[in-house]
Amino acid sequence: MYDMKALYEAESIADAVRLLQEHPQAQVIAGGSDVLVQMREGKRAGAELVSIYGLDELRGVTMEEDGTIRIGSLTSFSHITKNPFIQKYIGVLGEAVDLVGGPQIRNIGTIGGNTCNGVTSADSASTLFAWDALVELTGPGGVREIPIRDFYIKAGKVDIRPGEIQTAILIPKESYEGYAGYYIKYAMRNAMDIATLGCSINVKLSEDRKRFTDLRIAYGVAGPVPMRAVRAEAEGRGLEVTEENIEKISDTVLEDVNPRDSWRASKAFREHISKVLCRRALKEAARRADSMMQAPDNSGETSAETMEMPERTANEKPEAVSGQKKHVIMAEPGGGKQYKLVRCRINGVERETMVDVRASLTDMLRNDYSLTSVKKGCEVGECGACNVIIDGECFNSCIYLAVWADGKEIRTLEGLMGPDGGLSDIQQAFIDEAAVQCGFCTPGVIMSAVEILESGKEYTRDELRKLLSGHLCRCTGYENILNAVEKTMKKRLGN
Ligand SMILES: Cc1cc2nc3c(=O)[nH]c(=O)nc-3n(C[C@H](O)[C@H](O)[C@H](O)COP(=O)(O)OP(=O)(O)OC[C@H]3O[C@@H](n4cnc5c(N)ncnc54)[C@H](O)[C@@H]3O)c2cc1C
Ligand code: FES
Ligand code: FES
Repeated sequence: MYDMKALYEAESIADAVRLLQEHPQAQVIAGGSDVLVQMREGKRAGAELVSIYGLDELRGVTMEEDGTIRIGSLTSFSHITKNPFIQKYIGVLGEAVDLVGGPQIRNIGTIGGNTCNGVTSADSASTLFAWDALVELTGPGGVREIPIRDFYIKAGKVDIRPGEIQTAILIPKESYEGYAGYYIKYAMRNAMDIATLGCSINVKLSEDRKRFTDLRIAYGVAGPVPMRAVRAEAEGRGLEVTEENIEKISDTVLEDVNPRDSWRASKAFREHISKVLCRRALKEAARRADSMMQAPDNSGETSAETMEMPERTANEKPEAVSGQKKHVIMAEPGGGKQYKLVRCRINGVERETMVDVRASLTDMLRNDYSLTSVKKGCEVGECGACNVIIDGECFNSCIYLAVWADGKEIRTLEGLMGPDGGLSDIQQAFIDEAAVQCGFCTPGVIMSAVEILESGKEYTRDELRKLLSGHLCRCTGYENILNAVEKTMKKRLGN
């Protein structure tokens, strides 16, 4: 159970604004991957929450008539990476958010939460600085837009006024047209680790592709908030694209950055890698800009009409999973509104139960439905032992509120067995490949494998490793796990 005072579920943007005005102490919860973890750690204990998780109008990416790319605040990292507009025009943002945590975190974490938390290491933030993004906020006074640079006030503090929520991130056409970029995240591990330093660079080349017409060099963790290296940018404008000049620009970033010592790295080390990352990212951004200019289809000049629309777009409500109407709940534990009726489909069976609004989905699945394959491990989204499939995507159920399951289709390991109790091919493969030791992590890993296998795609071993990187096996049997998933994938694809 989460230690919360009250949960208010908004059913529209206006409703969220009203709830925040009525409950000035309340905090917004979007995907909850920061909020619920902090609540578990006691930092937000006893908080009142306004949940905007159900506001599907805030999900998705669209292109406006003037070419502005609009990313709804609730759009998850994985949906950003897969989105065709992002891939075509601002691919580096999709690449950057594909480095956040692991797959389950990328399915729950939103771009709104990643910027509203005011954290300097947020993987989307430096990239959005390099795209000159605008932040759209909606509140009692209406809608306002501010440059992302002004949105960050100080570490952990952003410009959100009382009653406001962030509704979108906007990238105007002039910010991306003709630019190409590259993001490098320097971290201790390839997955499930935040950046020691992040560097995101966009460049625009002259028509003859020989000079930097413009550069945007942005950093995360080089200061208390994400920042631009404005002196280095000024140094680089107009310079010829040569190794020597790239070196010169990279040296200049030391006049801009101001990192600190932390347990992760010293100030001196961060300064050193500020230069190194700048050099590497600038080189790659220039190479990309050069090849983009040689391939006009990729130049950012294609009109919106020629693009295939993404499946789900901002301001367009997707069909409700079960056709149920959402209800605003004002649940106040101890105040008589502690429970909510949650109707969902679990392993193919329609279910309904009253859940305590403070419960996680792990609590509900284990306590109400005895689905004990859903393990309680770290309970802060790090180990993947509680992983389940919700509407086709994997989520760590320990950082997913049970009330959010209303109307959803949920699958756990128990649902994989055939009607006669026989094991599915992936379960059998885990046995055949000795991919099970103590077995604690196994159900969660298998559910990730199910998502992978059901995509029908063929992945390389490295891609499979990344897709399984949201799991920690305490017994460390990773190679055997990979073998089991790879062999089953090949078998299903007839290879
Ligand atoms: C295991 C793990 C690994 C992680 N790894 C990374 C990583 O590698 N890189 C990285 O950048 N992050 C990482 N994170 C952090 C986290 O996933 C992101 O910060 C995420 O983007 C937060 O989004 P959310 O929707 O979950 O936000 P929430 O937790 O719901 O909210 C975060 C904050 O933003 C506010 N907020 C959210 N949305 C809005 C809105 N629309 N309007 C106003 N305020 C809002 C909330 O009040 C809260 O203060 C990790 C988290 C976990 C648990
Ligand atoms: S990720 Fe949920 S228990 Fe560890
Ligand atoms: S098999 Fe023991 S934790 Fe993975």
